[in-house]
Amino acid sequence: MAFPSAPSALWSVSLLTALFAAAVHSNIVYDDDPLQPVTSDETVSVGGTVTLTCRVAESDNSSLQWSNTAQQTLYFGEKRALRDNRIQLHRSTATELSITIAEVLLSDEGEYTCSIFTMPVRTARATVTVLGVPGKPQISGFESAVPEGGKVTLTCTSTGSKPPAKLRWFRGNQELEGRPNVVESVPDDPTYNVSSELTLEVSRSDDKALITCAVDHPSLAPGDKRSEQALRVLYSPDVEIVPESDLPREGEKFHLKCLGNGNPEPTSYSWQKKDGELPPLAKVDGAFLHFEMLNKSDNGVYLCHADNVIGSSQAEYTLLVQDPTAMSTSSGVDHAVIGGVVAVIVFILLCLLIVLGRYLIRHKGTYLTHEAKGSDDAPDADTAIINAEGGHSGAEDKKEYFI
Ligand SMILES: *[C@@H]1O[C@H](CO)[C@@H](O)[C@H](O)[C@H]1NC(C)=O
Ligand SMILES: *[C@@H]1O[C@H](CO)[C@@H](O)[C@H](O)[C@H]1NC(C)=O
Ligand SMILES: *[C@@H]1O[C@H](CO)[C@@H](O)[C@H](O)[C@H]1NC(C)=O
Repeated sequence: MAFPSAPSALWSVSLLTALFAAAVHSNIVYDDDPLQPVTSDETVSVGGTVTLTCRVAESDNSSLQWSNTAQQTLYFGEKRALRDNRIQLHRSTATELSITIAEVLLSDEGEYTCSIFTMPVRTARATVTVLGVPGKPQISGFESAVPEGGKVTLTCTSTGSKPPAKLRWFRGNQELEGRPNVVESVPDDPTYNVSSELTLEVSRSDDKALITCAVDHPSLAPGDKRSEQALRVLYSPDVEIVPESDLPREGEKFHLKCLGNGNPEPTSYSWQKKDGELPPLAKVDGAFLHFEMLNKSDNGVYLCHADNVIGSSQAEYTLLVQDPTAMSTSSGVDHAVIGGVVAVIVFILLCLLIVLGRYLIRHKGTYLTHEAKGSDDAPDADTAIINAEGGHSGAEDKKEYFI
């Protein structure tokens, strides 16, 4: 809610420059006349509050007055002239008359006049621009999951903006190019409805992707109003065969698992052996192919087919049964490396321990003093240990200092 009251923060530099130039043009021309009132143009969002300030450099005690776009007097000095509770006196001094208009309406837009009743009367005008705040964007056009390679056309609409809002499309952080915004207006309504279309050719990577429509508007902070639409894409399975282990040994139990990543999930799997029948001891169980007891005669290339309603595909696995005594060469190397590293670490730790032990023996007095001190101050045993450790590290600092 803080934002609509300070919409100018978002104005583009060019707009600000234009406004500033206009302000300079209308008001500061008479800057050398100390009785000339000075005002500034204001921009406010519908529902917000705007403050109109009118100042003179010097006062001859003449009254200042604000009047509205229909030339009705709002305030004459501190006297309220129009009965509208949205309009309140903000400050009235000899050199300033400020008023606020709350719950601003689109119809409040226009030129307000500040006058000072000198001889002759001097006036300054302030243009109030009222921004129509765009509604939350609505995305339509996505009804149900679309097959891979198909096209999806999304439409995003936002109502009630003034000036017309700009709609932008994103997939994650990446901006997508939609068709140019369509701006609609109707007579007697100063606000606009805007819409934008986005057409995407979807691939399997778009399944579950979030498409965002965001509204860009000077009355909003970036990202204030956005909507998301999750895509769902139907695609045939990607198939992969995962073995139970990398070392199938003769005589052991073993299985292959067929992973079919598709949308929808594959409904059926089938197993085959290239150049022959499945071995008698191999049992098909859906996505699994179980071997009760591996035998070198099982060697060969196995195929898994996975099907969903969109299509099917297959993967291959080459089974090479090892001797019952086979050791995994790759993991053997890994073990040797890990063993070596552990040995080196243990050796370093031992060295450290010896150095530390020798140091402790030499500086036993200091160490004990610090430990005792920590334990004495401690309210309980745990803290005593923590304090003692603290004292210990203090002793180490000291060691560095003496050496
Ligand atoms: C304005 O009014 C005050 C008191 O109301 C007076 O002291 C002052 O002299 C007046 N100034 C002029 C310029 O008349
Ligand atoms: C904008 O859309 C709203 C709701 O759909 C409709 O009532 C209004 O008349 C539209 N305004 C314009 C300017 O098209
Ligand atoms: C493998 O199968 C052959 C014949 O099919 C059989 O003679 C042999 O004993 C089997 N080996 C093992 C380890 O079961």
